[in-house]
Amino acid sequence: MRSLYCGQLRAEHIEKTVTLYGWVDRRRDHGGVVFLDLRDRTGTVQIVSDPERTPASYPVAEEVRNEYVVKVVGRVTQRPTESLNDKLPTGQVEVYADELIILNAVRKQMPFQVSTADDENVREELRLKYRYLDLRRDRMARNMRLRHEVIKAIRRFLEDTEDFIEVETPILTRSTPEGARDFILPSRVNEGEWFALPQSPQLFKQILMVAGMDRYYQIARCFRDEDLRADRQPEFTQLDMEMSFMDEEEILALNERLMAHIFKTVKGIELPLPLPRLTYAEAIDRYGCDKPDTRYALELVNVSDIVKDSGFKVFSGSVASGGQVKVLPIPGGNDAISNVRIKPGGDLFKVATDAGVRGVAYIRVRENGEIDTIGAIKDNLTAEQKQTLLERTGAQPGHLLLFGAGDVSTVNATLDRLRQAVAQELGLIDESKTNLLWVTDFPMFEWNADENRYEALHHPFTAPNPEDDELTNARAIAYDIVYNGYEIGGGSLRIYQPDVQAKVFETIGLSEAEAQDKFGFLLEAFEFGTPPHGGIAYGLDRLVMLLAGEQSIRDAIAFPKTQQARDLLTNAPSSVDASQLKDLHVTSTFKPKAKENPS
Ligand code: AMO
Repeated sequence: MRSLYCGQLRAEHIEKTVTLYGWVDRRRDHGGVVFLDLRDRTGTVQIVSDPERTPASYPVAEEVRNEYVVKVVGRVTQRPTESLNDKLPTGQVEVYADELIILNAVRKQMPFQVSTADDENVREELRLKYRYLDLRRDRMARNMRLRHEVIKAIRRFLEDTEDFIEVETPILTRSTPEGARDFILPSRVNEGEWFALPQSPQLFKQILMVAGMDRYYQIARCFRDEDLRADRQPEFTQLDMEMSFMDEEEILALNERLMAHIFKTVKGIELPLPLPRLTYAEAIDRYGCDKPDTRYALELVNVSDIVKDSGFKVFSGSVASGGQVKVLPIPGGNDAISNVRIKPGGDLFKVATDAGVRGVAYIRVRENGEIDTIGAIKDNLTAEQKQTLLERTGAQPGHLLLFGAGDVSTVNATLDRLRQAVAQELGLIDESKTNLLWVTDFPMFEWNADENRYEALHHPFTAPNPEDDELTNARAIAYDIVYNGYEIGGGSLRIYQPDVQAKVFETIGLSEAEAQDKFGFLLEAFEFGTPPHGGIAYGLDRLVMLLAGEQSIRDAIAFPKTQQARDLLTNAPSSVDASQLKDLHVTSTFKPKAKENPS
């Protein structure tokens, strides 16, 4: 029987005989004495074997190699003064191995070293192909434990203090309207018909409210076939919640308590409550985006009214055609950012043009109100316009002002990117900060110019704010929660009156017949006594990624997909037998590319 885990051994165990199991993290042979670092999921402890004190284990100790699986029975002893190790929790002790048994050997060349002592930077493809070895390593083992701690804290809080119940919803289901592409599966039994994997449990959780569950949560797997990024996976996990008879304030307050509990339990961080709030309009105005990183200032300033009549056509033309001109003022930017970088060919020029603008105008503020700027501003702005600009943007000597001009969303997107790039480069981001905030009052709809129609910004079951008369321009009672510049969750109050729902469908151009076809079951359920309700879903993988201080969502998931949506461990997706397709009543139109002729 195992006495305890390797990482748990302390001075208090000295003189005891213990039984340990684990992997050999490292083996060192010091002229007749063999030292093994024995590792399990809790950490490592030093095992010693020599021909005099432990004659039975010594021949085995000579034989073992890194990553062998062994059992050790031995005496815990105080380490000699010269080999005490303060950095290791078990650094006071070592175990003299009376018995050492090899339970399993390593039979192949290790693709990379697992050892905690080895800080090898392994290629991600290799880590994902041999994920079981990668998960043995300290970093991933810690991340997996953290993920577990977060889920445990969630369950304890929601179940034990707030009376939520977990209900599982189907994975084989109909498509849900979250806006991404569905993963679909052909039905064998129901010829010609298809299931969709859920993009979220949205419709089921609302039906659970009709069913009287009152407070539902689920650690829910979701599937979205969308382009992958560092913070997106095709298969990801939500903490999904829905509550009846609660208004927006109650929902936000409950969720703040939940966040405070998670941060306190897993990180020991006291979140100051209530969390700050920004309306969507304010967030866009000040930061150019709806998920601002507020760990640093660098706020945008709208100068459209100042430059709208200027002779500089890029500025006046943008405003005249319904666009805008905004400035990103950068304190100390004069010294830090050279012209080369904001002119064609420069890296910041590229950041800006990738986001949609054609170029970046600038002003450099010198001592005594002097400025350096591009010819077009120098020649076409009046002295008064220049003066007002400097005042509005709070310009001080040393400031660099970067301008974005064009249509509203392009300007915001551009300055948002520039703001982030500049903050990174100037080292303005205080990594020790934990900035959580709510963004509220999202618009109900967004105009889709390609399809010439309105689209629901959140989803079509989100309630409009009753204070707003005109539905197309109404605010939604929807909220996102943002953590250091990442959207970690979002939700809304839902529509529960059929007449409001009908108007929303009409606005997004969904005919009654289409609505019935898509969500008839939900609309019918709503006819049978629906409580007012609302909810939220968190991106659990994203939250864990941030709590772990990782840059990639893949480091928060045990078996993630690559950017190319592949699982390198099992090598999925893969082809299937023609007979499987036949059973599913499916034929493939895929034509493999003709192999090149080797001659
Ligand atoms: P939403 O679509 O905003 O809302 O999703 C909620 C949260 O899930 C995370 N997320 C993702 N994480 C990883 N990979 C992805 N592909 C991915 N897509 C989304 C984000 C996001 O904030 N049903 C609604 C919630 C509700 O209204 O209650 C929903 O799914 O962190």
